[in-house]
Amino acid sequence: MSVAALFKPFHLGALELPTRVVMAPMTRSFSPGGVPNSKVIEYYRRRAAAGVGLIITEGTTVGHQAANGYPNVPHFYGEAALAGWKKVVDAVHAEGGRIVPQLWHVGNVRRKGTEPDASVPGYGPMEKLKDGQVVVHGMTLQDIQDVIAAFAQAALDAQRIGMDGVEIHGAHGYLIDQFFWEGTNQRTDEYGGSLANRSRFAIELIQAVRAAVGPQFPIIFRFSQWKQQDYSARLVQDAQALGEFLQPLADAGVDIFHCSTRRFWEPEFQGSDLNLAGWTRKLTGKPTITVGSVGLDGEFLQFMVNTDKVAQPASLEKLLERLNNNEFDLVAVGRALLVDPDWATKVREGREQDILPFSREALMSLV
Ligand SMILES: Cc1cc2nc3c(=O)[nH]c(=O)nc-3n(C[C@H](O)[C@H](O)[C@H](O)COP(=O)(O)O)c2cc1C
Repeated sequence: MSVAALFKPFHLGALELPTRVVMAPMTRSFSPGGVPNSKVIEYYRRRAAAGVGLIITEGTTVGHQAANGYPNVPHFYGEAALAGWKKVVDAVHAEGGRIVPQLWHVGNVRRKGTEPDASVPGYGPMEKLKDGQVVVHGMTLQDIQDVIAAFAQAALDAQRIGMDGVEIHGAHGYLIDQFFWEGTNQRTDEYGGSLANRSRFAIELIQAVRAAVGPQFPIIFRFSQWKQQDYSARLVQDAQALGEFLQPLADAGVDIFHCSTRRFWEPEFQGSDLNLAGWTRKLTGKPTITVGSVGLDGEFLQFMVNTDKVAQPASLEKLLERLNNNEFDLVAVGRALLVDPDWATKVREGREQDILPFSREALMSLV
């Protein structure tokens, strides 16, 4: 089995990736005060030095008061955090790697008591009350404009500090996806109703990011059918609906779609073997990133809840077959790269026996 397809360069406009291996965005919660420190710099540098063509950083919060939902998540605003990220960028570039930040707003997942301002509740498409208290503030039109402006500013800052593009986190039931999904969006204004209306927030946000960074700066958009609130949720049921959903996002300025699935080999719709990234590429003509259990024999949500399980290294044969068929362009690897900075080098050199298994223990430290 030749792994050459994973190690071919990829070009898109000004973006040149040395390999097709992408590090999937993974929250690590090792940035006290929201500032990526020397351990974080070293963590990303190691992956760039060992054959990862593009690093997508852990989710990093835009400069809006309710963007964050968890402790020790890095910010993508403010002088100290941006200076930290600049050091990450320089370290990755010195190894010949490329890097984009994943820009994140958690929306209604946030609860009062969370950093950085404990008094701020979640913000989401809909208000939520508990025991008469507002736990989620329903976003006004002004709030929508404020969040859009925060994403545009973050993208501009990414460009200024030398990032190679940005990824907008539109997946997994966080703010942008909360607008997409009818389970979390029953608004009666122009941001609710049909999927086209529920996409309006994302479209305006992408347009604002594109206007801020100009025509050349790569914008990756991550989306998923599944939600952390409901793993079986689906935004669209068939290929035609997927095309209708994605085309306005592409028109707004997306260069690459990152199609988040938990198992890359699963056909997205009946009647074809194509996975979500395969359909997205076919329907939009845009390059796509696939993801989900690459190189491992168990999918990731299992390991978030069950401490005993260990995911063992698995064959890449099916993945390479799809990559060789040009079903998608790039391959994101999550846990396998989290536990093993040298994963890509080991794959390239055929050292399968040296590849490390993944268990929850790997989350406890940055290696
Ligand atoms: C510890 C951990 C943290 C994650 N954090 C994020 C995140 O911040 N943003 C995101 O879009 N996905 C996140 N994910 C999902 C991964 O990007 C990826 O889609 C998932 O792990 C499946 O890939 P894998 O099977 O190769 O691990 C996270 C996954 C893990 C394991």
